[in-house]
Amino acid sequence: MIIAHTIPELLRLRKAIDAIVGFVPTMGGIHAGHLGLIQEARKDNETVLASVFLNPKQFTEAKDFQQYQRDLTRDCQLLREAGVDLAFVPEIAEMYPENFQTYVEVEQLSKCWEGAARPGHFRAVATVVTILLNIAQPDRAYFGQKDIQQVAVIRRMVRDLRIPTEIIVVPTYRAKDGLALSTRNHLLSTEDRKRANSIYGALSAVMAAYENEVRDVDDLRHILRETLARGKITRIDYADIVDVQTLKPLQGALTDEAVALVLVAAHLGQTRLIDNCLIPAHKNNRADLTRLFE
Ligand code: PAF
Repeated sequence: MIIAHTIPELLRLRKAIDAIVGFVPTMGGIHAGHLGLIQEARKDNETVLASVFLNPKQFTEAKDFQQYQRDLTRDCQLLREAGVDLAFVPEIAEMYPENFQTYVEVEQLSKCWEGAARPGHFRAVATVVTILLNIAQPDRAYFGQKDIQQVAVIRRMVRDLRIPTEIIVVPTYRAKDGLALSTRNHLLSTEDRKRANSIYGALSAVMAAYENEVRDVDDLRHILRETLARGKITRIDYADIVDVQTLKPLQGALTDEAVALVLVAAHLGQTRLIDNCLIPAHKNNRADLTRLFE
């Protein structure tokens, strides 16, 4: 695996690649979820490029940024073992030189849910992903379902700015008990880690209710919130059922053709976790997720 630290280095190396390129952007803290994205990228492309850049601008809380796992040696080792050909690991000043002042904003989709809880977060994500796509020039870029609103924002941005990269969405990788893999999971206390699986428990309860013909969104919402409460998940930023295109809360009854998105963000101790699923449950696969925001 070749490592590029600067943008000119990456551009030079990229120019020399005459092959289909898949790109997996990360902030480090590499876990099995990232390795799954790399595996998908390897299946589809001749060359795999990954980036490790802990983007300070997308953190809205200083503590969250400080606590974020940083171990570049370990991350590079894992990327190498996973078969990444080229890794881009820039310093902050390389990405944001003095007098940097241009930002990308996806107006509507950035305002709700994560955007409301973390003002400025998606503006920073959209900006850094634009920079990364501009310099990596991949044919495909891979993102995880876990950050589904991020996917919606990036999809809209790529479309609006005519960035010629296909966005592939890979289903969430989960621990055995269902907890979505996240770099932040290691910050959970033993007790909080145990009850964290109730988040997926609540999503599963909604998927099961849907399978049992519950179609009224208020009933499904009630099941979601009740199951979270029973699992002692009480500090909830949001737990809702929304339209997959607009991300606005749904009302009424779901038709048999409708696909809805179930979103949860909750605090466990000092750690904030997010998760989501599509209903019906069989839609939580790469092909349907990738088609979702098209
Ligand atoms: O999902 C992430 O890890 C980050 O938001 C991303 C896409 C690498 C941008 O910093």
